[in-house]
Amino acid sequence: MGKERGHGRGFGKVILLGEHSVVYGHPALAVGLDRGALAEATHLDDGPSQLSIGSWSTEADSESDLGLAFAALLRETATTRAVHVRAQTDLLASAGLGCSAALAVAITRALLSLRGIEATQADIAARALAWEKVFHGNPSGIDTNIATRGGCLLFERAHDGPRIEALPIRAPLHLAIGYTGQPASTRAMVEGLARLRARKPEMVEKSFEDLSSLVGNAKLALLAGDLVGLGQLLDLGQMLLSGLMLSTPEIERVCKLARDAGALGAKLTGGGGGGCVIALAESSPEPILDAWAQAGFSSFAAEIAPATRPIDAGREGKEWTLR
Ligand code: PMV
Repeated sequence: MGKERGHGRGFGKVILLGEHSVVYGHPALAVGLDRGALAEATHLDDGPSQLSIGSWSTEADSESDLGLAFAALLRETATTRAVHVRAQTDLLASAGLGCSAALAVAITRALLSLRGIEATQADIAARALAWEKVFHGNPSGIDTNIATRGGCLLFERAHDGPRIEALPIRAPLHLAIGYTGQPASTRAMVEGLARLRARKPEMVEKSFEDLSSLVGNAKLALLAGDLVGLGQLLDLGQMLLSGLMLSTPEIERVCKLARDAGALGAKLTGGGGGGCVIALAESSPEPILDAWAQAGFSSFAAEIAPATRPIDAGREGKEWTLR
């Protein structure tokens, strides 16, 4: 049975380890953030369907990427009546925090809920991928899966569908997330690495295998609550990503400021080439946030709780309703 209004939510995320190699079938670890996206869908008397995100508006199939991505989600959810979807996000765009996937998942959920359709998390993530393909070309699917489920996921792309393991974190992770001030295009970074891989396949494959080992060890560190070990793995991950030409002087600077302020480890997160850095704090992330603020970098703290939060649980201190 259809409804008058459909609502949906998607989580933001950071990739702890395994970005880029995950595109080529290697495992990666990601955690969901409390920040994310919300969407509300209502029917229109006639078409075309409209999407508003904050102050941006577009019509389905308009010649913009946003219009094409919206049209893809209308097709994926078999939405045939005209709709108006209003969405909002508190994530920085083009910063490695999964803003686009969080919006895709929130909109997919809102469209399905408007039609009264219940879908599994795997199904929602798979449908939302159609939006990501417009923006990113060859997405691994890690972003839409973590945006759908939240929590802490070990993700591996495979031909017969992704392999996903929800990891029960032992100790809370206190993350500081710093913005380099440089927006970056995930598509451009993925394409740049594909060119490097074509020129130097052995070097890139070796790095991917090393990243895979780091992911395996990080899983063990998370399960054991070994934060010092996890921090060292993040630093090693940053070295490997830097060797793949995915870092920038600003990323290195933000990482160094964090380590000097006591971070257990720091690295870029997501596509790289700018965007955000994650730093693991032993307990309070405040000294890291202060060091970044003094150097002029904006940032925020994220605590990843041991228990995987169920999707509909809301969050303390903030109502998940559209403004
Ligand atoms: O930059 P983001 O937040 O879209 O993360 C991209 C992660 C990559 O591994 C670089 C790409 C992908 O599709 O997995």
